[in-house]
Amino acid sequence: MLGTALAFRPLTTDDLPFLVGWFNRPHVYEWWGRRAAPDGIGGAGDDAATLEEVEADYGETDEPRPERHFVIELDRRAIGLIQWYRVDAYPQYASEIEEPDAAAIDLLIGEKELTGHGLGVDVIRRFTTEIVLPDSGLRRVVGAPDVRNQRSIRAFEKAGFRWVRDAEVEDAPAPEHVMAFDCSEMEESPSLSNVCSVD
Ligand SMILES: CC(C)(COP(=O)(O)OP(=O)(O)OC[C@H]1O[C@@H](n2cnc3c(N)ncnc32)[C@H](O)[C@@H]1OP(=O)(O)O)[C@@H](O)C(=O)NCCC(=O)NCCS
Repeated sequence: MLGTALAFRPLTTDDLPFLVGWFNRPHVYEWWGRRAAPDGIGGAGDDAATLEEVEADYGETDEPRPERHFVIELDRRAIGLIQWYRVDAYPQYASEIEEPDAAAIDLLIGEKELTGHGLGVDVIRRFTTEIVLPDSGLRRVVGAPDVRNQRSIRAFEKAGFRWVRDAEVEDAPAPEHVMAFDCSEMEESPSLSNVCSVD
């Protein structure tokens, strides 16, 4: 069954060719592409991501980046990219989306045939509870899909995120639909008591 052998592992330079392929697929660049997002990458024709661009954005650097990048694996096959970062690493963005004390996540399932089967819900829920909450030490995680990305919005909702506001973001073609998974609202849930504990 989809999602039963799901795993996350840190991105390495060996994975960068996968990213080039994924960024240049229409179902991904519709939302992640150069024409779709302020810092977008990938697209068709002249917009297509190159290995050099991907290395510049996702390869090794001297200074650590705010983003922690992970490969989504299904049955040990690399199928997508997911990342988290502290929103306060980007003060203007934190102010635009009004989320100074949260971690944010972004994701893509690069293999189109694996979209539309409920996998995204499992990926978002497990990455949030198994990686982001424990690693960040924060108690609030947000996702902010384009307001038109109904599939992503629905996947975040089904993963336990609730809408808090739509936010205008500089250079974005449409507002972002800010959704939050907040431990203060999950305290009754026994399965979250560990990941959401303060100490
Ligand atoms: C967004 C993404 C992660 C969602 O994962 P997924 O596995 O494809 O999504 P799911 O199959 O879990 O579907 C989520 C829900 O959206 C619904 N949905 C799908 N397309 C939809 C649409 N066009 N309008 C409304 N709902 C839609 C599904 O029916 C499902 O809800 P349901 O279970 O109540 O029927 C994945 O499609 C993806 O990576 N897309 C490309 C990149 C992208 O958009 N990334 C997100 C940027 S924030």
